[in-house]
Amino acid sequence: MPQIPVRHDVLILGSGAAGLSLALRLRDDISVAVISKRDLREGSTLYAQGGISAVLDAQDSVASHVADTLEAGAGLCESAVVQHIVERGPDNIRWLFDQGVAFTRDAQYTSAGGYHLTREGGHTYRRVVHAADATGHAVETTLETQVRARANVSLYEHHIAVDLITARHHLRNSQQHRCLGAYLLNRETGRVETFLARFVVLATGGANKVYLYTSNPDVSTGDGIAMAWRAGCRVANMEFMQFHPTCLYHPQARTYLISEALRGEGAHLLLPDGERFMPRFDRRAELAPRDIVARAIDHEMKRLGAECVYLDISHQSADFITAHFPTIHGRCLELGIDITREPIPVVPAAHYTCGGVMVDQNACTDLPGLYATGETAYTGLHGANRMASNSLLECLVYSEAAAADIERQMHQNSFLPEVPHWDDSRVTEPDEEVVVTHNWDELRRFMWDYVGIVRTNKRLRRAKRRVDLLAQEVIEYYSHFRVNNDLIELRNLIDVADLIVQSALRRRESRGLHYTLDFPNQDVTQCRPTILIPDSYQPRE
Ligand code: FAD
Ligand code: SIN
Repeated sequence: MPQIPVRHDVLILGSGAAGLSLALRLRDDISVAVISKRDLREGSTLYAQGGISAVLDAQDSVASHVADTLEAGAGLCESAVVQHIVERGPDNIRWLFDQGVAFTRDAQYTSAGGYHLTREGGHTYRRVVHAADATGHAVETTLETQVRARANVSLYEHHIAVDLITARHHLRNSQQHRCLGAYLLNRETGRVETFLARFVVLATGGANKVYLYTSNPDVSTGDGIAMAWRAGCRVANMEFMQFHPTCLYHPQARTYLISEALRGEGAHLLLPDGERFMPRFDRRAELAPRDIVARAIDHEMKRLGAECVYLDISHQSADFITAHFPTIHGRCLELGIDITREPIPVVPAAHYTCGGVMVDQNACTDLPGLYATGETAYTGLHGANRMASNSLLECLVYSEAAAADIERQMHQNSFLPEVPHWDDSRVTEPDEEVVVTHNWDELRRFMWDYVGIVRTNKRLRRAKRRVDLLAQEVIEYYSHFRVNNDLIELRNLIDVADLIVQSALRRRESRGLHYTLDFPNQDVTQCRPTILIPDSYQPRE
């Protein structure tokens, strides 16, 4: 049956805070498609706990939020970007409030408009607005309700983008340098469909599934970063993968985040013998930036041969704990841990991708017509280490900027040429799925062992050899067999692993989240982002 391409003005790949806020910001005479590879709400946003940072308290200031972000970023943040995002914070929180997000209120906080503000690592002031310990759930479900009510927005759930369609790659003899759409696998029918759009937005989240242990949901496989790289876009700072210091350690349970807000509300980190150890590592103790806390935990676990350390908030009253952390309290109780009475066993796990697809302040990538926002993008905000709760803020501010830019450009690009349909006439059904499952496990394990919290050149080179081998096998498999979800994700994870290892090998110093025993100190001559340029890169005019 001949396929008819699906056409929209704007194609948004991803339905987390970045994708949904962008869809809602666009005028309602613009036709928008929002794509989600699982249910609409599944993504990191849904699981965000601590909250969103913004200057809401009269005692706080933009200058202070900027200074804290720059300090956490260890010299690599773009200061103009930090200033812009922090300045747009309060308006974006008000926008969420107008959409109906029910942030926790506390009459005591009159100077913050009645919102309760919590603290997290690196922040000088209480400036994190939240919905108890399930902020992401409140944000995602509210935006979902709003977007489902919008007549101009078509939702395509269970569709996974396979690759971007570009004029140069998909139109014969084209001089145009532009993104035209994407090929999407409809996971229900198993067919690859052609989606064309005047503007395409990558809002596909992070790449933390590249590690064996992660706080992230299964969808975080770096698809947007890999697709943009293959389409000729530059990618920056991929060595800075953030490990969250405190994820629940429980042999029978999937990794589960224990919010930094517990430490913000006074929880202490303890060794198995009960010693509080963070003051030995940093004057800010448990509220030092994440790279420092995660490294300290890793160091102590290795020194003692311990399976985990402990996070203890039991000195606070049970009423306080259950009011502020109802979700974490409930989840731990299900596993037999009563956090009002006993410490929680915790370990670090991969949490956030600080690097990503390079964008300007309008969220434009190197490829005209293609935008990137949210965790997929590299804006310059986070530098070498993201400060807690700055991510959701970045999603909102850059989606706002992307929407404004798309509306400004809307009079252009009305012509969408015909492009070839996905050709699967020469491939067959996969013969050995075990290749995919085995390589998937192998990749995540060696990335954890060799490219984790503490690195060495030897470990990185070992990882590089393995990535190259897996890449060869998967390219071969990809060109012979019909694509499916696992194969698409594995191919992307391998591309992303390669970008992480390449970037880590280039940084011959330790800075922020990149720590290597071969170069344990910071080197002022390397105080610049790591920018990787694909062979097919073409500068914008
Ligand atoms: P996501 O919310 O991850 O959404 C990605 C979307 O892309 C999904 O809809 C997915 O289906 C879709 N997608 C991916 N690939 C494809 C593809 N190939 N085709 C089609 N669709 C695709 N940050 C904070 O600021 N504050 C917090 O308190 C906080 N807590 C966190 C707690 C946890 C447990 C985690 C995991 C993260 C937390 N973060 C927090 C980080 C923050 O939640 C994320 O960085 C942010 O939500 C990312 O939003 P996003 O819209 O970019 O991506
Ligand atoms: C947390 O609640 O600890 C996560 C916050 C974040 O990642 O910004």
